[in-house]
Amino acid sequence: MTKIAIVEGDGIGREVIPEAEKILRFFLPNAEFVKVELGFDQWKKTGSACSKENMTTLKEMDAVLFGAVTTPPDPEYKSVLLEIRHELDLYANIRPVKSESVDLVIVRENTEGLYSGIEEIGEDKSTTLRVITKAGSRRIAEKACSLNIQRNQNTPLVIGHKANVLKSDILFRDTCITVAESQNLPVRSMFIDALCLDVLLHPDRYDVIVTTNMFGDILSDACGYLTGGLGMLPSANIGENHALFEPVHGSAPDIAGRNIANPIAAVRSAAMLLEYLGMKTEAEKIEKAVQQTLSLRIVTPDLGGNASTRDVGENILAKISEH
Ligand code: NAI
Ligand code: MG
Repeated sequence: MTKIAIVEGDGIGREVIPEAEKILRFFLPNAEFVKVELGFDQWKKTGSACSKENMTTLKEMDAVLFGAVTTPPDPEYKSVLLEIRHELDLYANIRPVKSESVDLVIVRENTEGLYSGIEEIGEDKSTTLRVITKAGSRRIAEKACSLNIQRNQNTPLVIGHKANVLKSDILFRDTCITVAESQNLPVRSMFIDALCLDVLLHPDRYDVIVTTNMFGDILSDACGYLTGGLGMLPSANIGENHALFEPVHGSAPDIAGRNIANPIAAVRSAAMLLEYLGMKTEAEKIEKAVQQTLSLRIVTPDLGGNASTRDVGENILAKISEH
């Protein structure tokens, strides 16, 4: 039996995930859904943001649907999501950016780089260690190459880096080039800062962009501009043995608790989960229903509408059931 963990987390995670969960349950009527409570609210209640039992449960699942967690800027508080990505070794963060005119995907290395978690925080000096390994660069490059081949858009694989200033990026860039060349794939190597602007100006010139952890984090939020905002962008966190699907956005405390968050990023994350389980047709049905809902302008305030989170979720599900 397929086992899916449902993690709502904090803030709008509690509002958008139930909408995505309904759609998963529609397509997976026989799956076992296991609700896992973790995040900042949980930390406030119990003193632990993610218990050992929670982590064990996540590891036993076929896939995880994840909302968002609040990470307070307290040096004593470690990001739960970083911990989960490390524990489950979810090394590839796949972030598609798709709209009528845009179709690209950011492949972000998800376990090392500047989010290594190796830090020394002091009064007068704080340091964070940026870790780049050949093995880590190779596996993310391989993932990006296979996506590039699968998508077949005849566009070179783009490597986003800053090897001129960050010498650790020479290893990342060169490993990516070696992997791509070994598969006869054309590559374009670009400085991440210039890339950030160019992808917004000319998204049509891009297909797969592979980059390190923090650059990918920033680049994918910026690409929200191409699709109508953060409420639209889904992502997959994939490892050899585990997979977790989540919207790119965070817990959005500024709009939480008002039933106005856009659930589309979460719904699309559920579609990516189904595709991961081999249910590509079902995933396509979800995307079609999202498109129909958008055309009907049943949208939340971030997209200029006045529909609620639940209205949008229920409309998408209704469209799916009609097909
Ligand atoms: P955020 O992504 O939560 O919000 C940024 C802005 O986008 C806010 O104005 C918010 O209202 C808007 N927004 C985000 N998602 C939306 C949606 N679905 N519909 C409509 N509007 C939406 O990022 P922010 O404000 O920097 O961080 C808030 C908290 O979330 C922090 O504690 C942060 O650490 C955490 N966070 C968690 C992430 C995760 O769990 N994967 C990712 C990013 C941030
Ligand atoms: Mg982010």
